[in-house]
Amino acid sequence: MTDPAPARLVVLVSGSGSNLQALLDASADPAYGAQVVAVGADRDGIAGLDRAAAAGVPTFVDSVKAYETRDDWDAALAAHVAEFKPDLVVSAGFLKLVGPQFLAAFGDRYINTHNALLPAFPGMHGPRDALAYGVKIAGATLFFVDAGVDTGPIIAQVAVPVLDDDTEDTLTERIKVAERAQLVDQVGRLVRAGWTIKNRKVRIP
Ligand code: GRF
Repeated sequence: MTDPAPARLVVLVSGSGSNLQALLDASADPAYGAQVVAVGADRDGIAGLDRAAAAGVPTFVDSVKAYETRDDWDAALAAHVAEFKPDLVVSAGFLKLVGPQFLAAFGDRYINTHNALLPAFPGMHGPRDALAYGVKIAGATLFFVDAGVDTGPIIAQVAVPVLDDDTEDTLTERIKVAERAQLVDQVGRLVRAGWTIKNRKVRIP
């Protein structure tokens, strides 16, 4: 029997794209079971887009400013992503909250990685907020996106220690190392085995 076609990933980025790179690297192995078929961004000139281009992956940019309303942007982003027929859409450092149209199209298969142990420290500054609070353990959370801010059903979490001499940068970097490994591992599991979500509980058989 021939292997099934790899699952199709569309990855959304806004910055350096190191999580994207980890997915690109993992998908070079056919046994991984997934392939990045497109990379979308909300801005030009970011390393994430360069990484996609270097890997020969098509890219698109939908900047909120390019549309008259946020709703128009949401519809355009959903349409662009739909063109690539994704099995899973991965927000990897994508700094925009998608709207109702995007969620109607992909809400059952849109995941995000956040650099804090949710439900603590949602939002833009997870490591900074964790440091300021004085927690001893920080980490990253992979979850299905819902209409809230970092509130959706949790797929996996990984913890790292907070050290006494940590700065926002050192903690952010320590989290990112664990976060990338978790993302690659869990995306592979999701596409190879599928998943269910019941009462917020994500199960991967
Ligand atoms: C990740 O740590 C993510 O949790 C946060 O932004 C970072 C993205 O990094 N929201 P990169 O662009 O994948 O390098």
